[in-house]
Amino acid sequence: MNTEKNKLIWEDAKQYMPGGACAGGRSNRIFGMPLYLDHAEGCKLYSVDGNEYIDYHCGAGAALYGHNHPRLKAALEEVISKGFYMNHDSEWTLEFAKKFTSMVPGVEKIRLTNSGSEATMAALRLARGYTGRKMIIKMDGHFHGMHEMIWYNHGAFPEVDANGEVVKTVPDSGGIPDELGQFVKVIRYNDIDALNAAVEKYKDQIAAVIMEPISFNCGCFAGIKEYLQQVREVCTQNGIVLIFDEVICGMRFRPGSAQGYYGVNPDLSTFAKAIGGGIPIALVGGKAEIMDTFNPNGPVVCSGTTSGTQMAVRVGLECLNMASEPWFFDQIEKTADALYGGMNDLFKKHGIPGHVRGLGARFAIYFGCEDPETDFHLRETMKTYDVAMSKKFIAGALEHGLYFHYYGDAPYPAHCGFGIQHTMEDIAVSLERMDDVFKTLK
Ligand SMILES: Cc1ncc(COP(=O)(O)O)c(C=O)c1O
Repeated sequence: MNTEKNKLIWEDAKQYMPGGACAGGRSNRIFGMPLYLDHAEGCKLYSVDGNEYIDYHCGAGAALYGHNHPRLKAALEEVISKGFYMNHDSEWTLEFAKKFTSMVPGVEKIRLTNSGSEATMAALRLARGYTGRKMIIKMDGHFHGMHEMIWYNHGAFPEVDANGEVVKTVPDSGGIPDELGQFVKVIRYNDIDALNAAVEKYKDQIAAVIMEPISFNCGCFAGIKEYLQQVREVCTQNGIVLIFDEVICGMRFRPGSAQGYYGVNPDLSTFAKAIGGGIPIALVGGKAEIMDTFNPNGPVVCSGTTSGTQMAVRVGLECLNMASEPWFFDQIEKTADALYGGMNDLFKKHGIPGHVRGLGARFAIYFGCEDPETDFHLRETMKTYDVAMSKKFIAGALEHGLYFHYYGDAPYPAHCGFGIQHTMEDIAVSLERMDDVFKTLK
């Protein structure tokens, strides 16, 4: 594929933006630069060089509705005619809140923010304010946004002790003083003994347990249902606020999201990405009693100049409307079966070790890892995950007009996804192209 213009823009952009991008993760490490787009439509990205890609990144999960969906465009046009910002709430805001709380079982009240990072920051502060405790328990490999309260041990893997506690809390970015990690303890995910041991050890200090109910930030590790139920019980018994970070899971498993899918209600949850289809909207939601600790009712402050702009709320409402319609998840399941089944057939056909694991519209490709049924632990996967093969596949896919993002050489795959504008024909074309890529992998 020709990337001549892309390179020219990159050379120029590097002088004005670090790495030539306005977000660090935007650089596709296979290209060695960001992919600059001319436009995006449906399930396709169109680069500045005129290359067309079927999109399997889908805006890191935000573009569940595909690109430029006519219903989201119409919602935007409506709000633009009325005043797209305002810094006031409206009937749309109320409608959004009513709709969201009716869809997600563990959420009685919401507070809007702009991004998932702001939402987890507010949720953790709320848990501390509500309990009067300081300690936060997080899971090995889980990611909750880019802030000092919780940005630890997503990409660092120090040893785990006999109780399942990770021995060192390691920041995932430069510029975070070690001392700030003293109130964050990291334990093995899907391991109830590890949680019990941590609760025993830190007793009345723990304000919150935060987790991705499905660990998409290490590819796609499903939570074991029984484990999540036990986590719920342990938190209830010990006065700990259970936070499900549904920033990726949200709206991807029938309207109830992961908490509906598992039938386990957290005390608080955070949502972003797919609740806005790409427009900046995120939220903290949860039990009314805890949520009322937020200002102006309580002492914990969460506010923002651009929180819940009318543009975000109106488009977000249309996303919720779409996700409430019966066809929506039927279609996602049909597409998922065709794509994941088809890709797993390609692994077998070409005799390449690995598998695709997906839940709802988000998935990961585990080159080198063979045991999808029992493999619930990141560190076991890391032993066989084949980084070199993964890179080769993504490089080949890009050449064949399939866009997969590559953040860098992590010891686990990135999460990929599709949206509701991927047709069965797009999936069939993608599988044909992947077949050609698989031929080159051995
Ligand atoms: C589970 C999870 N939580 C929080 C965040 C942060 O969200 P944002 O990028 O909107 O700040 C992300 C982002 O990928 C995420 O995956």
